Amino acid sequence: MSYRDNFIKACRKEQVDTLPVWYMRQAGRYDPDYRKIKEKYTLLEICQQPELAAEVTMMPIKKLGVDAAILYSDIMNPVASLGVDFDIVKDIGPVIHTPVRTAQDVERLRPIDVEKDLSHILQTIRILDKELEVPLISFAGAPFTIASYLIEGKPSKSYIRTKQMMYSEPAVWFALMDKLGDMVITYLRAHIASGAKAVQVFDSWVGALSPADFDVYVRPTMMRIFQELSDLKEPKIYFPGVSSGELLPYLTTIQADVIGLDWRVPISVGRERLQNRYAVQGNLDPYILTAPMSVIEAQAKAIMDEGMKQPGFIFNLGHGLFPEASLEKLKELTTFVHSYSHSVLTQQAEKSGV
Ligand code: CP3
Repeated sequence: MSYRDNFIKACRKEQVDTLPVWYMRQAGRYDPDYRKIKEKYTLLEICQQPELAAEVTMMPIKKLGVDAAILYSDIMNPVASLGVDFDIVKDIGPVIHTPVRTAQDVERLRPIDVEKDLSHILQTIRILDKELEVPLISFAGAPFTIASYLIEGKPSKSYIRTKQMMYSEPAVWFALMDKLGDMVITYLRAHIASGAKAVQVFDSWVGALSPADFDVYVRPTMMRIFQELSDLKEPKIYFPGVSSGELLPYLTTIQADVIGLDWRVPISVGRERLQNRYAVQGNLDPYILTAPMSVIEAQAKAIMDEGMKQPGFIFNLGHGLFPEASLEKLKELTTFVHSYSHSVLTQQAEKSGV
């Protein structure tokens, strides 16, 4: 392999001598250079320009020294190919022009055509495949999380219309889950064919469901997605988003390699709830990045100490970075994760005579 591969090794639960680290939302507004680009272009305009999208993807690799890149894109991008118009509105998030609420609305959704409608994204991946020295993670939004935007029409706190459809019109709900499941499978297969080295499915808001509802209304679709991707050798990550700790025991039938944990679940508890079947990724509270460095390092150390008890740990945040995070602190944190984990892991290897 021509790139640093600790991230891929950790996804496969292989031994590493230093923990891999990357941050969800690592390309973003905490970086003044990114903010300059955003003065000229919107997120969607950046995504339309493969050279620029590749450059933005690479910015945190150079600046922070992280071990994986995440494609600069948004979970909403493939939705355009379903035939749904949307905008990403500043300080709000995705806004859908005509929300999807009835059986007819769901029926109208087209299968996505990646080559025709999303070739700019594949082109960005091809550029990155040539230029990166770390693995590229591409991603898709999970059906529940995408459905919540399509149905509500904008970000929601209660998911009231989403739940209304789920409970009142289960046939429409499952038809929508099927179509969005197909979207995720087609889209991620195309990413891997273009050079992505791992994929992550973001289910940021599924923690809004009770475990019993997750089991009935979402788990079958998630099982199908990972089952249909299981012939691909590239690691697959499922991130069940914020407040997902209680859902973890219900994920163990899903054929992912890695599960992302939010910051409310200690790493060892997460592993136990997942029956030790997966590598785990996480889970520093992103808001701690406003704290003094000594507090950040103490919490990072506690997470690493648990994470390093077994192979299969990737250091990350418990959710995405936010604009107020400090670039300097992120750099220091990355260096700290590398140096602290290297000293512990090399000592562990010496003791076991490896
Ligand atoms: O660096 C990276 O992680 C790669 C880029 C990335 C973006 N969105 C770019 C973006 C990724 C992985 C996403 C995923 C995404 N998008 C998720 C899942 C991850 C999560 O945070 O839970 C979700 C729920 C979305 C939908 C979305 N897009 C929201 C809720 C927002 C926030 C609105 C805001 O202004 O904060 C966006 C906009 C968005 N997507 C931004 C970025 C960098 C911020 C606005 C901008 O810079 O234009």
